[in-house]
Amino acid sequence: MAFTRLTAAEAAALIKNGENIGLSGFTPAGTPKAVTAEIAKIAHAEHEAGRPYQIGIFTGASTGQSCDGVLSDEHAIRYRAPYTTNPTFRKHVNNGEIAYNDIHLGMMAQDLRYGFLGDVDWAIIEVCAIEDDGKVYLTAAGGIAPTIARLAKKGVIIELNAFHSPKSIGIHDVYEPLDPPQRKPIMIEHVTDRIGTTYLQIDPKKIVGVVECNIPDEARAFKDADPITDKIGENVAHFLMAEKRRGIIPPGFLPFQSGVGTTANAILFALGSNPEMPAMEIYTEVLQNAIVDLMFEGKVKCASTCSLTVTNDKLQSIYDNMEFFRDKLVLRQSEISNNAEVIRRLGLIAINTAIEVDLYGHANSTQICGTKMMNGIGGSGDFERNAFLSIFTCPSQAKGGTISSIVPFCSHIDHTEHDVNVIVTEQGVADLRGKGPMQRAEAIIENCAHPDYKQLLWDYLKISQRGHSCHNMAATHSFHDTFLKEGDMHKVDLSKFA
Ligand code: COA
Repeated sequence: MAFTRLTAAEAAALIKNGENIGLSGFTPAGTPKAVTAEIAKIAHAEHEAGRPYQIGIFTGASTGQSCDGVLSDEHAIRYRAPYTTNPTFRKHVNNGEIAYNDIHLGMMAQDLRYGFLGDVDWAIIEVCAIEDDGKVYLTAAGGIAPTIARLAKKGVIIELNAFHSPKSIGIHDVYEPLDPPQRKPIMIEHVTDRIGTTYLQIDPKKIVGVVECNIPDEARAFKDADPITDKIGENVAHFLMAEKRRGIIPPGFLPFQSGVGTTANAILFALGSNPEMPAMEIYTEVLQNAIVDLMFEGKVKCASTCSLTVTNDKLQSIYDNMEFFRDKLVLRQSEISNNAEVIRRLGLIAINTAIEVDLYGHANSTQICGTKMMNGIGGSGDFERNAFLSIFTCPSQAKGGTISSIVPFCSHIDHTEHDVNVIVTEQGVADLRGKGPMQRAEAIIENCAHPDYKQLLWDYLKISQRGHSCHNMAATHSFHDTFLKEGDMHKVDLSKFA
């Protein structure tokens, strides 16, 4: 079957006000770019003409400027789920304009299948190749592509993006689980086990057209590591080596999941550089630049991921070296990369970055001072809740020292104390396992807080009411409140709560 060729503008014109689109990709990797940019132009024209135009967006994770960026700037997004990192989108969310639904990434596809989020009207899928029977080959991410392609009620639009080399064919393991009560065990017992197909089979009758384009991925480089992130990486590596020496972690180690961002990159680098560290296995959702380098160096022997969230030069180096990567790298759907069953079976060591943590071990990954969304929970909840060992890292201070990342009580909680084993800052390591609330608080203040804030945190405990845990209800958010009013948490005056 030869599919109709459409321009991106023709494809975008199919999508009407009030409809929901599902996008392939996971982070800007593998996300369609041509059609969404044209939808933004339609929204602009409709709004100029005084007509409403807004759509709902379901994605694997974040997208780039050509989706979240331009569409939010044109006030064209009514609802969107899940994770996001785009600064333009963030601005519009924090203005209260968009119903942003921060769903665990591992749950997104099944929430759509269960019907929790409404209809998927259109799916837009980026591919590097398409066959006449509707088999398509995904690009740099697995995301939620099989689910949206199957659920799309009105049709599937294919973006055939020549930027992605068909040399990558074979890298994907495409698998969509059945829903309860038919769900079967997900039989991944080793990081690179394959349980699906290298292609996504789409019903050819649903494919309304193919948009040809050649557009680079929009993944950004993170900030360079600095002495603080390097020290956090070193602390994580030392802690894990000690766990290996005392027999908690098996000698061959366990697979790693490492989060997103600058700190995550630095941690992987520190682990890879540690002479005691055997070649690592990675089972994660986002493969960043650091892992590609470590694979080339033989320090990471294999990796399973949902996306290649790497800079474009790194992506090309993967495509150019497919023979090297073929048996070492697998791309999966997010509900498989982030699947609780698989994470527990493999026994992952999960290391994610928090914005702030509190004295009892709750972690906030998503919001600044309780109201401003930063990124979203991503897969951190999927991994931390189910890992063999759950580690959160963060620098002990933020914004030039005016914020303590260790606070009496988080201003927003994504991960409860029950899901967090260890907290690591550049100051040290607080091992929370086997401790009651007060011992946890002491370990966190003593080992993780910045020296400038330690006394304030001890003082907070002194003015708190002691029960099973310890809090002063009037002062729990006094650090945040002081920052919002005076721009510096150092200025908190706890005497007024005593
Ligand atoms: N209070 C206020 N702002 C804070 C803060 C705090 N306690 N801690 C960090 N920030 C700000 C930083 O100043 C920075 O702001 P800027 O962009 O204006 O410079 C921003 O948050 C990001 O922090 P940065 O130090 O650059 O950290 P990072 O790149 O390591 O990212 C997260 C940290 C938490 C934002 C990131 O890891 C994330 O999005 N996590 C959620 C998703 C996730 O964990 N996924 C895991 C599976 S891949």
